Amino acid sequence: MSGKRLEGRCALVTGGARGIGASIAEALAQAGASVMIGDILGDLGKQTAASLGKSGAKSGFVALDVTDDAQWEKAAAATVATLGGFDILINNAGIEITSLVVDVKAEDLRRMCDVNIVGTALGMKHAFRAMRPGGAAGKGGAVINIASVAATIAFPSIAGYSGTKSAVDRMTRVAAMEAGKLGYGVRVNCIYPGLIPTDMGMQLAGDIVRLGLAPDANAAVGSVIERTPLGRLAEVGDIADAAVFLASNDARFVTGIGLPVDGGMGM
Ligand SMILES: NC(=O)c1ccc[n+]([C@@H]2O[C@H](COP(=O)([O-])OP(=O)(O)OC[C@H]3O[C@@H](n4cnc5c(N)ncnc54)[C@H](O)[C@@H]3O)[C@@H](O)[C@H]2O)c1
Repeated sequence: MSGKRLEGRCALVTGGARGIGASIAEALAQAGASVMIGDILGDLGKQTAASLGKSGAKSGFVALDVTDDAQWEKAAAATVATLGGFDILINNAGIEITSLVVDVKAEDLRRMCDVNIVGTALGMKHAFRAMRPGGAAGKGGAVINIASVAATIAFPSIAGYSGTKSAVDRMTRVAAMEAGKLGYGVRVNCIYPGLIPTDMGMQLAGDIVRLGLAPDANAAVGSVIERTPLGRLAEVGDIADAAVFLASNDARFVTGIGLPVDGGMGM
C-alpha cells in the first residue's frame, strides 16, 4: 500500500510480535505511523519492534498481557511516553482452543473469554481514556478490533472461539455508539479475517484433522478454499491493508462496522 496516510499517528498493536499483528504493525509503520507492540512474547516482540525501526519508523515494545487491567494502564502510558501520542489501537491479541461441543472444557472456554473478550474490552477502555478529550493523548483516534469470519459462519470445532469473536463484534458496536455519543472522537470498527496460515491457523488445520473432520491438513485447507469465492486462503497483508484503511482518514465517517476480509467466505 503506497502513501503516508498515517504520518504523525501513534499506534499500539496487541499480539504484535508475530502473525497478523506483526503484519499490521509493519503496514502501519509503512503508512507513516509510529508503532508500539504489546505482547506476552518479550523476545519476539522486541525483535519485531526493532525491525519496524529499521525502516525509519519510531517503534517500541511493551510487555502486555491483555487480560490484566494494570498492565493495560502501563501499556497505554508507555505508548504515549515512547511515541508521543496514542491515536490508533489494534486489539489483535487472541487465542483459539479447538474442541467439539461434546468435549468442551470449562477452563479452555474461560481462557478464550479472558483473552478474546476481556482483553479486547480492557483495550477499548484504556484507549478511550487516553484518546478522549482531556486524556493523556487527547486527540481522538481509531480502535480496530480483530474479530474473525468465525463470528459470521458456523464452522465445526470452534464453538467457544466463535462465541468470543461474536462478542468482540457486538462490543465493537456498543463501544462505537458510546464513543460517538459521548464525544470521544474515537471511531471503533472490527475486521473479520478469513483463515490465514499463521501459527494459529495452522494449529486449527491440525486440530481439524485430529478430530476426524478432515483426512489431512491439505483437505482441511481445501475445504476452506472451496467455500471461499475468491478461491484462496487469506494472507496477513490482506488484513493489514484493511486495518490501515480503517485507521486512516479515508475511513473518517466509518464507525461501528464489521469488515469481512475473507474472500467472500462469510457472505
Ligand atoms: N489466523 C487465522 O486464521 C485468524 C482468522 C481470523 C481471526 N484471527 C484473529 O487474529 C488475531 C491474530 O491471530 P494470529 O493468527 O496472528 O495468531 P498468532 O497465534 O500467530 O499470534 C497471536 C499473538 O497474540 C499474542 N497473545 C496471545 N495471548 C496474549 C495475551 N494474553 N496478551 C497479549 N498478547 C497475547 C501471542 O503471543 C501472539 O504474538 C487473533 O485475534 C485471532 O483470533 C486469526
